[in-house]
Amino acid sequence: MLANVTKKLHFGRKTSNPVHGNMAKHFNLEKFMTLQTSRAIRIDQHGGPEQLKLVEVSVGDPGAGEVRIRHHAVGLNFIDVYQRSGLYPMAMPLQLGMEAAGVIEAVGAGVTHLQPGDRAAYASQPPGSYCDVRVMPAKSVCKLPDAISFETGAAMMLKGLTAQYLLKRTQPQGGLQPGDFVLFHAAAGGVGLIACQWAKAMGLQLIGTAGSDAKCALALANGAAFAINYSTEDFLARVKDITAGRGVKVVYDSVGKDTWDKSLDCLQPFGLMASFGNASGPVPPFAPGILGAKGSLYVTRQTLFTHIATRESTQAMADDLFAVVSSGQVNIHIDQRFPLEEVQQAHRDLEARKTTGCTVLTL
Ligand SMILES: NC(=O)c1ccc[n+]([C@@H]2O[C@H](COP(=O)([O-])OP(=O)(O)OC[C@H]3O[C@@H](n4cnc5c(N)ncnc54)[C@H](OP(=O)(O)O)[C@@H]3O)[C@@H](O)[C@H]2O)c1
Repeated sequence: MLANVTKKLHFGRKTSNPVHGNMAKHFNLEKFMTLQTSRAIRIDQHGGPEQLKLVEVSVGDPGAGEVRIRHHAVGLNFIDVYQRSGLYPMAMPLQLGMEAAGVIEAVGAGVTHLQPGDRAAYASQPPGSYCDVRVMPAKSVCKLPDAISFETGAAMMLKGLTAQYLLKRTQPQGGLQPGDFVLFHAAAGGVGLIACQWAKAMGLQLIGTAGSDAKCALALANGAAFAINYSTEDFLARVKDITAGRGVKVVYDSVGKDTWDKSLDCLQPFGLMASFGNASGPVPPFAPGILGAKGSLYVTRQTLFTHIATRESTQAMADDLFAVVSSGQVNIHIDQRFPLEEVQQAHRDLEARKTTGCTVLTL
């Protein structure tokens, strides 16, 4: 459990509390009336999970282009670890979290796609979703279909939109056709289990890697055509075996440092190396000449935030995600739940490779 909540507010009352005589003279009444408090998880400096502190913050009204959303559940993502540890340097103090679902409480000027009372979910910059209620830019927030629960919405937005842009928008020259082989590392993780199912729905033969036999079994049960335990097996040799020596059209690699070199060798000529994460550490610098020697390969480093930079692309991608989840083609596995105040343990388990599928912080 985290230490006691640190009181950050001078005015600890909720908006519904009355404001008394003298106070009204000294403070901007209107502003005071709209302030409320929220529990939040914050870091004051980069470091280990012990840096995650439960604090109380003030939340005001949304400005133009913003909404205030009261969360029902919050999603945990590996990017939260990078932002906490300093692999991705961030300005301090930092309220962590990139994904959540809840109900819209208020909308600012110019917001037309949401209104108070709407169920909604998002994956978005800026960080700050580890809390009960927040104000944030509206453009990344989407209405959540009634058939999708808050927990599922919170678990799937960042990971599901990532699987969407990888499989649908990050393709080799000539695209991907049913029957094609792709290699997907960390296939039993949050993004991984969604990708296994979605790739199967697209007719692709996804070869998944994972760090244990149990995780491999999970990837296979969720649509991977083949699974390789890369802790005990040489994944390059297995990929060559499975593809009769031809290799795969795309490698989707979020593991980074540990898998980079062999992943390049898993590719067919003109194949695409799609790097999208660094769970084992960042990919070291490399000489472009090796791409020619290995078969005129393509390399890209993708991030979701380029794909969801506009309201239109966010909604189009989210609609695609909502459709595969609503149809049952993709099930969102929430394999771990932690109360918000136990977020330190959630980070420890994610970093220690103890989790599978998605993890949700409950409120
Ligand atoms: N660029 C983007 O747009 C974007 C968006 C979302 C996520 N991502 C990336 O996608 C990856 C998956 O994200 P997620 O939130 O769904 O996490 P996750 O896959 O649930 O967890 C990460 C997994 O990486 C594997 N891993 C391999 N080496 C590791 C190491 N040294 N330390 C820790 N884990 C290691 C582990 O699976 P095994 O035990 O099976 O190896 C672990 O479970 C992350 O790298 C994340 O940064 C990128």
